[in-house]
Amino acid sequence: MKNILITGGAGFIGSHVVRLFVNKYPDYRIYNLDKLTYAGNLENLKDIEDKPNYTFIKGDITDGDFILKLFKEHLFDGVIHLAAESHVDRSIENPMEFVMTNVVGTVNLLNASKALWKDNYDGKRFYHVSTDEVYGSLGKEGYFTEKTPYDPHSPYSASKAGSDHFVRAYHDTYGLPVVISNCSNNYGPNQFPEKLIPLFINNICNNKPLPVYGKGENVRDWLYVIDHANAIDVIFHNAPAGETYNVGGNNEWKNIDLIKLLIKVVDKKLGRKPGTSERLITFVKDRAGHDLRYAIDSSKLQKELGWKPSLRFEEGIEKTVDWYLNNREWLDNVTSGDYQKYYEKMYNNR
Ligand code: NAD
Ligand code: DAU
Repeated sequence: MKNILITGGAGFIGSHVVRLFVNKYPDYRIYNLDKLTYAGNLENLKDIEDKPNYTFIKGDITDGDFILKLFKEHLFDGVIHLAAESHVDRSIENPMEFVMTNVVGTVNLLNASKALWKDNYDGKRFYHVSTDEVYGSLGKEGYFTEKTPYDPHSPYSASKAGSDHFVRAYHDTYGLPVVISNCSNNYGPNQFPEKLIPLFINNICNNKPLPVYGKGENVRDWLYVIDHANAIDVIFHNAPAGETYNVGGNNEWKNIDLIKLLIKVVDKKLGRKPGTSERLITFVKDRAGHDLRYAIDSSKLQKELGWKPSLRFEEGIEKTVDWYLNNREWLDNVTSGDYQKYYEKMYNNR
């Protein structure tokens, strides 16, 4: 048996990683540690919650004493660290929460791993899941590689960059067996509807305005979340310690083009004439410090570890829209209460 700690496993990407590991590795004991913030939802894991190799632990990674105690109790062999504050707009509103969870929380996990493993790093692994946003913004040409210098612009990306630096420092200073991956924008089932794709699907369904930041000319490289979970599996098991891998979909879309595609797909499935909901498009004040373009060169991961994205974007979007339309109750549950207040505050200001 191996004891694996997955942090942030009740969130969007984390829940897909937990499901993959619980089902694929019955001989691992998977511990999902999550604070259950607004973004964490145990409903995401209903199908595996009774599996004998799965345990949920509610807890906060910013509490260093609690983390150390947890590591002493369970003697984890591996950590896959996804817990984070993850939404750029929220980081602009409240940067300190991002410093605490993303930087301090990560250092607490590093410290506990070092304390428990220091006499023997054999078979141990600390995997930090990070983002392409640490590299900053591209112009019209070029791609982020693992050698691109860090140049974060939002409090979110600055906090993720800070955490990446600490993870590398613990490798270089203490020999901790770390790996890092930096991934592009994910989409798919169970994403909290503050992020572009689920927010817009929900608003199209409810005939609400679609708030496009600036002119909608920013470009993102979209990857289906299960392809990211598969990349995490491959990297966790095969990457040499100290290495970094970029993960991306090779799938760039200008926001406005993606939004028009999404409208067509959702309209069609709702029985509306495809394109009708374009009337909901509303150009609003741009996000402060809005990065123009992200695009990932994932050739290192493809060549060295044999991973590649499995889905064409059009296929992934169809599956994603189907999931949200078939899970309206999930959407209603997560968009009630506090989220409504946040939404009104954010979008009434624009
Ligand atoms: P998410 O916001 O959906 O989920 C984050 C999870 O972390 C939630 O379950 C939340 O409850 C938990 N959490 C937050 N603060 C915590 C704390 N202090 N202690 C314990 N748990 C806490 O995020 P996501 O989109 O699934 O992203 C997961 C990770 O992947 C993040 O580290 C993010 O930076 C990274 N990432 C995300 C994307 C993307 O497109 N979503 C792309 C690349 C990298
Ligand atoms: O690149 C990886 C990152 O992708 C992750 O690290 C982040 O956790 C994740 O949130 C995501 O960041 P983005 O800021 O790119 O994602 P978001 O869905 O917030 O926005 C995507 C694009 O759409 C971006 O250019 C801003 C724009 N946008 C977003 C929202 C929510 C709008 O035009 N209107 C909106 O209402």
